[in-house]
This record gives sequence, C-alpha cells and structure tokens, in this order.
Amino acid sequence: MKQEVQQIGTALDRLSKLPDDLVDLGITSPPYNKGEKNKGWLVKNVVYDVAMDKKAECVYQAEQIALLDELYRITKPGGAFFYNHKTRWNKGVMHHPITWISRTKWVIRQEIIWDRMIAANIRGWRFWQVDERIYWLIKPQDNKLIGKELLSKHALLTSVWRFPPERNNSHPAPFPIELPARIIHSVLDEKDGIVIDPYCGSGTTLVAAKLLNKHYIGIDISKDYVKHTKARLQSSEAERTKVAEELLKHAVLRSFKSRKSKGENTGKYKYHD
Ligand SMILES: C[S@@+](CC[C@H](N)C(=O)[O-])C[C@H]1O[C@@H](n2cnc3c(N)ncnc32)[C@H](O)[C@@H]1O
Repeated sequence: MKQEVQQIGTALDRLSKLPDDLVDLGITSPPYNKGEKNKGWLVKNVVYDVAMDKKAECVYQAEQIALLDELYRITKPGGAFFYNHKTRWNKGVMHHPITWISRTKWVIRQEIIWDRMIAANIRGWRFWQVDERIYWLIKPQDNKLIGKELLSKHALLTSVWRFPPERNNSHPAPFPIELPARIIHSVLDEKDGIVIDPYCGSGTTLVAAKLLNKHYIGIDISKDYVKHTKARLQSSEAERTKVAEELLKHAVLRSFKSRKSKGENTGKYKYHD
C-alpha cells in the first residue's frame, strides 16, 4: 500500500529517490512561473506559501523538462501523466507549454482544453483568457504509441472540459476535485493503481485518488500545504458527493444509432439554423 504525503525538498529531489516504473498515473498543476514580484505584484491572489514563482523563463522550462523526464522514469510502461498548464505572455511574447513538453521523453496523446469560466487577466489587448490546457502524456509499452483505449463512457466526455475554479479551499490555486476525479476514473476505471502528484498543494489529486480507491503519493515544498493535505485526507468523505456527481457524467445513455436518429451528439458537426 503506497499512500504518502511527502514534504521535504523539491519535487525533483523527492522524485529522484523513487524507483523506476512505480506509478500508473500522475496528475499535476505546477507553479506557472507567473513572474510575481515581491510575492504577488502581478497575480496578487496566487501567492504560494514557500515557493517563489519567478524564474528566468529558460531556467523554468529546463526545470519542467527535468521534472517531466523524472516522472517518465518512475511511471510504468503504458502509464500516463496529465500535466495542467496554460499559455502565458511576458512583455507580449507568448510562452506555450508545448515548447518544453515536446522536448521531454513523453508521447503527447492529447491536448485538452479546460474552460475555467473565469479570466485571471482581464486587460483588453487580447480576448479574456478563460482556458487552461491539460496535456495527456503517455509512456508507451512495447513501442505502441496508441495503447489502451478509453471506454466509450469516458471518451464521450470530449476534449473540452468545463469546470469552474474551486472556491472552498484556502490554497491559492487548487483544482476543483472533479478534474482529477475525471482523469483517474477515465484512465484507471476500476483498475487498481498508484497516482502521483508532485506539486500536490492542498492534496486535491490525492483526495480524489483515495475516494476512488487508488493508492497515492503527494509531494509539496510547503509544510503548511502538506498539513492541509493530511487533514483533508482525514475528512475526505466530506468530498464524496462531488466525486460521485462527476462519476455520474461517465455514462453512455443512448447508443450511437439512437443519438444519431435524434440529432444528438455523435461527434459529427451539425449545422443548426
Ligand atoms: C498550482 S499549485 C498546486 C495546487 C493543487 N493542484 C491543488 O489542488 O491544491 C502548485 C504547488 O506547487 C508547490 N511547489 C512550488 N514549487 C515546488 C517545488 N519545487 N517542489 C514541490 N512543490 C512545489 C507550491 O507550494 C504549490 O502548492
């Protein structure tokens, strides 16, 4: 049984101590290198307890590549990692996560759009940015780049996910629990497995894993956040309803033929006057 919340050192340091081919699935949202000044001048609502979110962009990207490659090493062949990030701008120059993800060992299976329904930056030099990205990365088994397919009930959820941000959490940048629950339930379904989050923050991924009967490993640099995670895991039953509501969405309610006859979602574009 592998259920740990670790705290000492950085994610990279803790990962380097784990053996090869250990985990089945990983999910994370790293610090985004938002360029905070004096702890929060630019994005004053997202200021972490210990970590400073300001590095030279080339240093940041090199660190993320090293982290993702270390995660690749500790993931079982056939395993997956879901990496949440977003497009950012620095003095008008765009930084796209695909720039560094494509320089890692992972095979990129899909780019999922997360519609957060809220904009962090509402200046008018571009449309308000409400989207983030979730990269589904896989470690191929036997050189197969496609690998195991999702069951239809999961695949029907499509590549655009709409989850509003989490409000009921003192951490500055938590996931809504439905997000890791969707990933874990879709990829592992009823299968047993170990789920890791190397920047676990308030432990949302771990709580979802626990409620879905999976093993979990979490790492965060902040002692306070680890304490928060442990307390949340203790009272995880309080979050079961939200996870159960997400699971209800994973269903094939009607066959393809019946959906087609009623003009409903078949995956094909339909023009409506
Ligand atoms: C976006 S937050 C993750 C939030 C998490 N998904 C949740 O639902 O609560 C990023 C986390 O990374 C942590 N962090 C920053 N630098 C780190 C490092 N080098 N090693 C480990 N954790 C780090 C921060 O303390 C913060 O909690």
